Amino acid sequence: MSILKGTLSFLGVFHIVCGELSQYSFPDNFQFGVSSSAYQIEGAWNEGGKGVSIWDHSLHSNPDYVLNKSNGDIACDSYHKWKEDIAMLKNLGVQFYRFSISWTRIIPLGYSGSKVNEEGVKYYNDLIDALLAEGIQPFVTIYHWDLPQTLENKGGWLNESIVEDFVYYAKTLFELYGDRVKRWITINEYLQICEYGYSSATLAPFLNLAGVGVYQCSHHALLAHGRVYRLYQNQFKASQKGEVGSVIQAFWCEPKTSSMDDQLAAEHYMQFNFGIYAHPIVYGNYPPIMMERIEALSDKQGFNKSRLPRFTEQQIEMIKGSFDFLGVNHYTTILCSFNDNLPQPSLDSDCGVEISQNSTWKGLIRQYF
Ligand SMILES: *[C@@H]1O[C@H](CO)[C@@H](O)[C@H](O)[C@H]1NC(C)=O
Ligand SMILES: *[C@@H]1O[C@H](CO)[C@@H](O)[C@H](O)[C@H]1NC(C)=O
Ligand SMILES: *[C@@H]1O[C@H](CO)[C@@H](O)[C@H](O)[C@H]1NC(C)=O
Ligand SMILES: *[C@@H]1O[C@H](CO)[C@@H](O)[C@H](O)[C@H]1NC(C)=O
Repeated sequence: MSILKGTLSFLGVFHIVCGELSQYSFPDNFQFGVSSSAYQIEGAWNEGGKGVSIWDHSLHSNPDYVLNKSNGDIACDSYHKWKEDIAMLKNLGVQFYRFSISWTRIIPLGYSGSKVNEEGVKYYNDLIDALLAEGIQPFVTIYHWDLPQTLENKGGWLNESIVEDFVYYAKTLFELYGDRVKRWITINEYLQICEYGYSSATLAPFLNLAGVGVYQCSHHALLAHGRVYRLYQNQFKASQKGEVGSVIQAFWCEPKTSSMDDQLAAEHYMQFNFGIYAHPIVYGNYPPIMMERIEALSDKQGFNKSRLPRFTEQQIEMIKGSFDFLGVNHYTTILCSFNDNLPQPSLDSDCGVEISQNSTWKGLIRQYF
């Protein structure tokens, strides 16, 4: 698949750029793996009873969203070529394979209570069984960005009712595959789903609700994650004995200069882009600096309440500690300095930090900013 118009490549491709790799070694029990996501590899977008996802819908309605009108209709055709893919994994000698399940292949209409598609169920049963037969552990991402379009039609991640739909979907997966799958990632990369999907029109569903969509989406995604973690703990953990966690994308931010201001800017950036998810999952609520700044700015901008929704006390308790592991997807490092003149409202102006990179940096694969 070709490169997205936006700034992020969302495939879990890991680059090691390191001049002196020989100085390092991995412990004997270190596990190597590779990863993929359903929309980027499966193809067969309308085969085997699959429903339409937001990526199918967006790129069919607006082919120019991606360079060269590329899309995932066929992609790597892994829906048909999965046996060859497993042979390649075996050849690589990996211990695990992380892949995502396509929500619309399992539950074509997406809704809580709607029909489960047996052909889709079989596809992943075959894949999981074949991986295990080769001694490769399946590591499953429940949601890697391909929301059912039916759910987007009622607001997608902006509508709190998605939490129930997501819980139904995850429960279906635990019941179907939990006897063999022991590691589950609820949601992959919240910021990319919410800021790039709902606030800056860069990823599906390509909405541009700057400074508003990102927080509503994040709020519901965090609730959905927490509920699924608790569901597994309460109903599946004792018998299935697996682990449930989540994956957050994080750039690392360095102060642009050694000034106190820039040091604080770097801290702000990490709180608004990483802490927004890690802080609730670990401590139960958003970072205090986020709640303060967004409330004050929302008030100044004439909103009648903070653009950042609030969790109830009960929700805080539910989300707090909702992880057996936390994954970090790290792509690059950036420089931070304060800037009070960014377009408002937006996540970036709420954070108040301007970011940059320097093309002279060694090992920079490409300049993000
Ligand atoms: C886009 O299409 C042109 C013409 O077919 C091709 O030369 C180019 O490599 C394509 N770019 C990408 C990124 O696939
Ligand atoms: C949110 O979802 C509920 C339940 O499916 C639906 O009744 C409602 O209309 C949706 N809200 C919006 C704004 O679409
Ligand atoms: C606050 O603003 C929202 C969105 O603009 C509006 O729907 C709501 O009625 C307002 N509430 C009050 C109490 O003014
Ligand atoms: C990039 O780094 C070089 C070397 O440290 C420095 O001279 C230059 O000013 C930097 N460029 C920017 C745009 O900050």
